[in-house]
Amino acid sequence: MKQLHPYKIGKKVLWFDSVTSTNTKAVEIMLREHKAHGIVVVADEQTHGRGRVNRKWISPRDGGVWCSIIIKLENKKDVLLYTQAASLTVVRLLEFYGIRAQLRWPNDVYVMKKKIGGVLLEVHSKQHDEKFLIVGIGLNVNFSEDSTPDYLKMKMTDMHRLLNNAPKPDRKEVLQKLLEIFSSYCHFISSGDRQRVIKEWKDNIVLERKEIKIVIGKRCIMGKPVTLRDDGGLVIEARNGAREIVHAGEVFFEA
Ligand code: BTN
Repeated sequence: MKQLHPYKIGKKVLWFDSVTSTNTKAVEIMLREHKAHGIVVVADEQTHGRGRVNRKWISPRDGGVWCSIIIKLENKKDVLLYTQAASLTVVRLLEFYGIRAQLRWPNDVYVMKKKIGGVLLEVHSKQHDEKFLIVGIGLNVNFSEDSTPDYLKMKMTDMHRLLNNAPKPDRKEVLQKLLEIFSSYCHFISSGDRQRVIKEWKDNIVLERKEIKIVIGKRCIMGKPVTLRDDGGLVIEARNGAREIVHAGEVFFEA
């Protein structure tokens, strides 16, 4: 794997056959490695892949790019930017392969109303209060019909299906490109060009013009999305006109 300068994302790529979750594996590696920043953990299969809001992330063998990138977090405020950067990376990567994808708030990647990828970021501490970010990215590449659970068949898609009869994308090449793109976003973040990431994220989010339901723990909010804030919040307007800002949660859209 070529070195990716100047931020050395992918300076070391550890590719496993099978892990529970690359995010979990990346935490172990981050704790034991002296210079963990930029190490990437990838697996052919995840037996307990994790999604946002405690969902499972189905990660069959050779079905996608299941990876976690270890980032040394210099500023806690950057967590959101890295989340946006990771989801934009997937959008740009798909664009490189000729697939037009969009983001659905907060950071899910969709193509024609079907989910193709998602990101799960976690912050962990090491000695001397050093903070590391585990940037987990899941992208469906060659998801066979057999490995797709029935309840997901209408809701998800993968690169191979979208590329019609083209040969299956090579997961190593996909990862290489993904790391290149993610590195360039890391460069914007560390050089202080926060607005560039925020603007791009806003430009790529599709805001439904109809009512959506957002579930935050045991709470459920119904309303129409109005606008996005720079801090990643979504402004929702309820039927009675009251506005509320939400920062996380599971969103249910009509198909
Ligand atoms: C979501 O949209 O719910 C987020 C999905 C994130 C999945 C990736 S796959 C690699 C990494 N390891 C995990 O267990 N989850 C993330």
